[in-house]
Amino acid sequence: MPYGPKGAPNRIGPNLFGVVGRKAGTLASYSYSSAMTKSGIVWGADTLPHYLIGPANIVPGTKMTFAGLPNQQQADDMVAYLATLK
Ligand code: HEM
Repeated sequence: MPYGPKGAPNRIGPNLFGVVGRKAGTLASYSYSSAMTKSGIVWGADTLPHYLIGPANIVPGTKMTFAGLPNQQQADDMVAYLATLK
């Protein structure tokens, strides 16, 4: 689940503080799938909503076992929220 207090520990997924604008798979304290680290994606308004709607479509092999948010509006809203975590 999205989780992003500054400096908080990683859980099943990585802490999402500062994730908007960051290159995928680069939080040093978290052990990502190789799919994520090799994706080359930069998380922004153009990329992150697509990932949140269909994680495995955008990053095949990701270990984020989440079916995805139901629509573009919810994905855009989530990205707007994540952008406040900085
Ligand atoms: C709307 C809900 C969610 C959002 C906004 C979200 C967001 C994200 C983002 C942006 C990343 C990439 C982080 C980075 O590159 O540093 C990520 C990775 C990850 N998330 Fe989620 N996530 C959600 C739901 C979940 C759920 C439900 C789970 C667990 C069941 C989960 C587990 C993970 C895992 C394990 C990764 C690492 C993926 C990998 O290395 O391939 N996430 N998440």
